[in-house]
Amino acid sequence: MKDPNWRKCILRADSRDVIKHIPDNSIDFILTDPPYNLGQHSTGNIPLPGRSAMNNDVAEWDMVDFNPEEWADEFVRILKPTGNLFIFTSYNQLGRWYNCLDHKFDTSNFMVWHKTNPAPKIFKAGFLNSCEMIFTCWNKKHTWNFISQKEMHNFIESPICMRPERLSNPKHPAQKPVAILKKMIEIASNENDIVFDPFMGVGSVGVATLELNRRFIGVELDPCYFQAASERVEKVIVMSDKEAMTRYKQP
Ligand SMILES: C[S@@+](CC[C@H](N)C(=O)[O-])C[C@H]1O[C@@H](n2cnc3c(N)ncnc32)[C@H](O)[C@@H]1O
Repeated sequence: MKDPNWRKCILRADSRDVIKHIPDNSIDFILTDPPYNLGQHSTGNIPLPGRSAMNNDVAEWDMVDFNPEEWADEFVRILKPTGNLFIFTSYNQLGRWYNCLDHKFDTSNFMVWHKTNPAPKIFKAGFLNSCEMIFTCWNKKHTWNFISQKEMHNFIESPICMRPERLSNPKHPAQKPVAILKKMIEIASNENDIVFDPFMGVGSVGVATLELNRRFIGVELDPCYFQAASERVEKVIVMSDKEAMTRYKQP
């Protein structure tokens, strides 16, 4: 990055290619939400009489085989010794992330995000999908900001992303609420740190990162999601520049 004042670098690309160019020990916080490999377990959309079918497939991008083992070494290589790694994941991938990352860090743990308004189960058979897991790991001397233990329950509760925050075009089935990402970023990084999201979707981690005055690197493969991410992060930069100008002009 040649500009010493850079704040964001977002790329429409395959992060497998991009990550190779990121130097060793250069990222403060990897906060990411990779594909879940749930698409292949889906029973398909549910037809509803007189209404549009209920979408039961996660998305096209989740139909491909995603292997955590192919990413673990690169994540470890680019992370600073003081860095943290938080990965949103599903029940079927949690053990795989644990197996390939736990032995490379001093500590691994997990958080649970409880969604207070999960999608209903039309046939009332089984549990609601109301929890998402976040696999976390770090080494001794990692960045960690909190005042009281009360802030440190490994449990976050919030609704899923709703309008007006939720985008309708493009609609991303996994758009994360910025508020929960901000909580993680505040705990696991400092101002001006570099936060990396190699699977940025519509850029929610980017928005949260820039709103908290950290620097952001994000990668997304899909052109529509990338465009939406690009507009969202640009908006944060414009807003923060405007606020800075207002503060500067005040006597
Ligand atoms: C779970 S979603 C992330 C959603 C994001 N957290 C948000 O709030 O919008 C995963 C994203 O990774 C993207 N993706 C999958 N494989 C990728 C790759 N190899 N490189 C870059 N992006 C990829 C998909 O297109 C998808 O948008």
